Amino acid sequence: SAAEKAGYASFMLKEIAEQPKAVADTLLGRIDGSGTLSLDEVRIPAAVLREVDKVVVVACGTAFHAGLIAKYAIEHWTRIPCEVELASEFRYRDPILDQRTLVVAISQSGETMDTLMALRHAREQGARVLAICNTNGSTIPRESDAVLYTHAGPEVAVASTKAFLTQLVACYLVALYLGQVRGTKYGDEIRDVVRDLSGISGAVERVLTTMDPVRELARSLAHKNTVLFLGRHVGHPVALEGALKLKELAYMHAEGFAAGELKHGPIALIEDDLPVVVVVPSPRGRSVLHDKIVSNIQEIRARGARTIVIAEEGDEAVVPYADHLVRVPATPTLLQPLVATVPLQVFACELATARGNEVDQPRNLAKSVTVE
Ligand code: AGP
Repeated sequence: SAAEKAGYASFMLKEIAEQPKAVADTLLGRIDGSGTLSLDEVRIPAAVLREVDKVVVVACGTAFHAGLIAKYAIEHWTRIPCEVELASEFRYRDPILDQRTLVVAISQSGETMDTLMALRHAREQGARVLAICNTNGSTIPRESDAVLYTHAGPEVAVASTKAFLTQLVACYLVALYLGQVRGTKYGDEIRDVVRDLSGISGAVERVLTTMDPVRELARSLAHKNTVLFLGRHVGHPVALEGALKLKELAYMHAEGFAAGELKHGPIALIEDDLPVVVVVPSPRGRSVLHDKIVSNIQEIRARGARTIVIAEEGDEAVVPYADHLVRVPATPTLLQPLVATVPLQVFACELATARGNEVDQPRNLAKSVTVE
């Protein structure tokens, strides 16, 4: 009903707007001002976590994209190898699992059958399973060894928005916590990032206040057939998520690519006035990647692409090559998906609405897929 939507035209818009609070709620009670994490709720003993020699993330759809980003964070801060696998593929390839494997199952609903079957398979092989879930008492957390709830509140729209952002926060917490428990050379960085996390809710809020030009752009592209998304590093899964949102909501052909792969094939798709969204990493830190992606933007623009560039505030290098420029606040490199995803959600929602689609209930889709 209209009352449930609290004045918003759709649950999706309401849930996009709720993201600053959702993110803050995921962090609540789990980080403190000194940069220390307390995740006592993860009832896997520290001694066991110190013995973990492999992390495997299993999930579907948008939760899988959160998992792809988790891999960067887990491997960086813990130095433990991490694989990410579509839950629907996982058990069919006879994966190598044992008592030293930590499986992280990510699911908003906690009822996705593919993810549930993957975690059952993992536990049968002796692996420990940690669930990242939004729905209290649902099947996936009940069948896991431990759970980290995202506390995003109920997500009603079929297309996941606030659940995704809070899954990312939970993944960062797991990565940072494993790093803290195991004591890696990144101890100081871990403390700094834990402190930075407390500013993330405000950064997401800032992004939301600057979305009018994104909505206008989306409306102007409503007649297009294809939109491409490019990113590198953690920006690659963000590109995949931007494309998935557009497919499910606008029923448009959309694809996400790793920008470095352009020259290996996808650049052949570029034609006059094709909209291409590029997620640009921070010019600080991983500056090599930044410079490479700026060259990618130049290359596709020279071939006629209409470039829609998502870049950090103060990044001037992109300005000459951006037909449309969307600014996001500066964050530590690994946290950028928390701000860079938001414009892509708004873009897909507005474009779908302009095409006359019902955004809360896209055709052919169910909120949780409880069949294999
Ligand atoms: C996201 O927008 C989707 N509708 C879908 O990909 C979803 O993320 C996927 O089905 C997984 O659901 P879960 O998080 O409830 O397991």
